[in-house]
Amino acid sequence: MPDQLKDQFIEELRASNDIVEVVGEYVQLKKQGRNYFGLCPFHNENTPSFSVSPEKQIFHCFGCGKGGNVLTFVMEIEGISFKEAVARLAEKSGKSLPESFKTEHVSPANQEARNILEAHQLLTKLYHHLLKHTKEGKDAYQYLIKRGITDETIDAFQIGYAPDSKTFVASFLEKKGFHLQTMVKAGLLSVTGENSYIDRFRGRVIFPIRNHQGKTVAFGGRTLTDQQPKYINSPETDIFHKGKMFFNFDLARPHIRKKSEAVLVEGAVDVIASYQAGVQNVIATLGTALTDVQAQLLRRYVDTVIICYDADQAGLEATIKAASQLKKVGCYVKIAQMKDGMDPDEYIQTYGSESFHQHVIQANISYMSFYLKYLRREFNLQLETDRIRYIEKALDYISAVDKPVEREHYLKDLADEFELSRETLTQEIRYRRRKMGKYKDNQLEERHNNSSSLKKESEKLLPAFHNAERYLLAYMVKDREIADYVQQELGGAFLINEHQVIVTYLYAFYEENHQADISSFIEYLPDEHLRNLISKIALLPVSDTTSNREIQDYINVIRNEKLRKELHKLELEQREAERQKNPVRAAQIAMEILELKKQQKHEKYK
Ligand code: CTP
Ligand code: MN
Repeated sequence: MPDQLKDQFIEELRASNDIVEVVGEYVQLKKQGRNYFGLCPFHNENTPSFSVSPEKQIFHCFGCGKGGNVLTFVMEIEGISFKEAVARLAEKSGKSLPESFKTEHVSPANQEARNILEAHQLLTKLYHHLLKHTKEGKDAYQYLIKRGITDETIDAFQIGYAPDSKTFVASFLEKKGFHLQTMVKAGLLSVTGENSYIDRFRGRVIFPIRNHQGKTVAFGGRTLTDQQPKYINSPETDIFHKGKMFFNFDLARPHIRKKSEAVLVEGAVDVIASYQAGVQNVIATLGTALTDVQAQLLRRYVDTVIICYDADQAGLEATIKAASQLKKVGCYVKIAQMKDGMDPDEYIQTYGSESFHQHVIQANISYMSFYLKYLRREFNLQLETDRIRYIEKALDYISAVDKPVEREHYLKDLADEFELSRETLTQEIRYRRRKMGKYKDNQLEERHNNSSSLKKESEKLLPAFHNAERYLLAYMVKDREIADYVQQELGGAFLINEHQVIVTYLYAFYEENHQADISSFIEYLPDEHLRNLISKIALLPVSDTTSNREIQDYINVIRNEKLRKELHKLELEQREAERQKNPVRAAQIAMEILELKKQQKHEKYK
């Protein structure tokens, strides 16, 4: 395929994949002026400094400096190559991929991961088929129906059955041409003795575990009987890292985005039951406690997480742990509670979907209310001493809440319940907050939240010529005429090295008759560092119509700085010549200095 057609295809691809939409699948974005802001997916942060420009179709993080267009975003976030990103976006927008984008060399390690992934897709279908259409699968199917799981749900989650055979899957995979040792690595088979392979999942209901793209990357197998262990799961593999993903995230994602809220439960069956009951923004960790990576991941999508863990001691403790992790990354945490040691699946089976919505999910309480309730269990509130100890402890926790409105709310509850004066309690809180060094907190937070002031502050720190170059570049990528003018006036004589490299590429870009378009220029740049930088520069607030005066001013600032630097250098040389008693050389330099000073004056009045 000729380069021109290739470029054209890429351009079409970019035009049909709006960056706000694509990024929006990974980051909760909020409009603020012309741009969107959200939490950066490339570094950990609690206040948004990641911005996306719909006009320019680029993104940039003011925190970590990453930036680019829709294609580089997909490459970065998925850790895939340019061609893979092209394929991904083509598939998304329903474009067929030209041949030249298809062929790609794959490394052996990469090939192995692909085989493992493919085996999982094939087995998902096979297990599902066995459950639904064979005699061996009948008991498992009945078991699921008895647990209230409908046919539709079985299909949606591709639930399956692994037959109670030692070599069923092993010989299936062998026939399909898979390398059995690789399948051991994949966690689908185990080795017994010499070169003898047996199935890992036997006689179990199979819950496929899908990654965030909806591809199966692991399985969970539940016994139909009371056999131990209750669940057998896939091990960690190249394609399955359970601490970095959520069960059901692919199906829940659009609902999570729409509601800006996620419901977190403990088990796969709880997810399936909740989803079926119409709570579709539901996800779970995979049999482990919530990790920091998962908390950060979730934070990018939502403000609020409703935790709905099992109503038993273990569930309570897990709730407190997960809540503190989620709060740490800036989520607002709510708790949905059930009675009597139930889990969501049992609750729905006993009381129905409607009740689950109304009396569990909707009836959620704030984390603080939950925590205070939890705390109470340690005290006998009939006793005066216990009562005071409880109030003291509650005040400690309330003091740590940063939002004044929220603090007020809990304080009121406490005052009402124990018939205490609000003033006394407010004083107690003030005292505690001062001790924590928190009483100034709010102003600080304000400042951090305001990312535009953050931007301006960092700009102020740059010398004038540096900013002049940045603004000039911002205009040049927007407008070819300006670029032509600057090329004629300054050429590549930018003082910041990276800017010099960027303008050189920009001139070449225009000479090859590309239209002014920041998103396509980003692709033209060969190196990530430059792409990050130009994305940041392109987001500078430059006006749509600029005066020649403004452009000329920037050029003059740069020229003057250049002269100033040269002068400084010459003056040093002059001193050196004098020190070395070389009057001829010194006089020569003096002449040069004079000449430069004349130029400098001239520049100033231009
Ligand atoms: N789990 C596991 N191994 C076990 C027990 C549990 O991996 N031996 C994981 C599973 O992912 C399970 C989750 O932990 O979904 C929660 O465990 P539990 O509450 O015991 O299971 P339920 O989800 O309630 O499963 P079921 O209703 O089928 O008993
Ligand atoms: Mn259960």
